[in-house]
Amino acid sequence: MEQADIFYTVAKCDDIESGEGKIVFAGTTRVALFNYNGEIFCIQNNCPHAGGHLGLGAVKGCIVKCPRHDWGFDFTTGKCKTDPRYSAKQYEVKIEDGNILVGLPAPEQNNGPEFL
Ligand code: FES
Repeated sequence: MEQADIFYTVAKCDDIESGEGKIVFAGTTRVALFNYNGEIFCIQNNCPHAGGHLGLGAVKGCIVKCPRHDWGFDFTTGKCKTDPRYSAKQYEVKIEDGNILVGLPAPEQNNGPEFL
């Protein structure tokens, strides 16, 4: 699970049905949300294999099939079932007042070039 420094409100709980995936923005980062029997999970949207949109993949149980090459990812862990060398980043999810919040690491500071 990725470190959560900043939580973003990304959707309402009613926006995503059980057994569905959805692409949302957490700040400027596109992430994939999944509702699995009422529990919400979040992984990176861009497939770690070649960038397919995991949030658009077909969902069966806790597995989403990448729409690009059909690899299966367990969105409760981020692990790829097709090739275990790959895994999707998993992000922390909180529910507050009917809203879904996703936690991301703080953006890297860009302090310009370093001169030694
Ligand atoms: S881009 Fe997702 S399996 Fe290839």
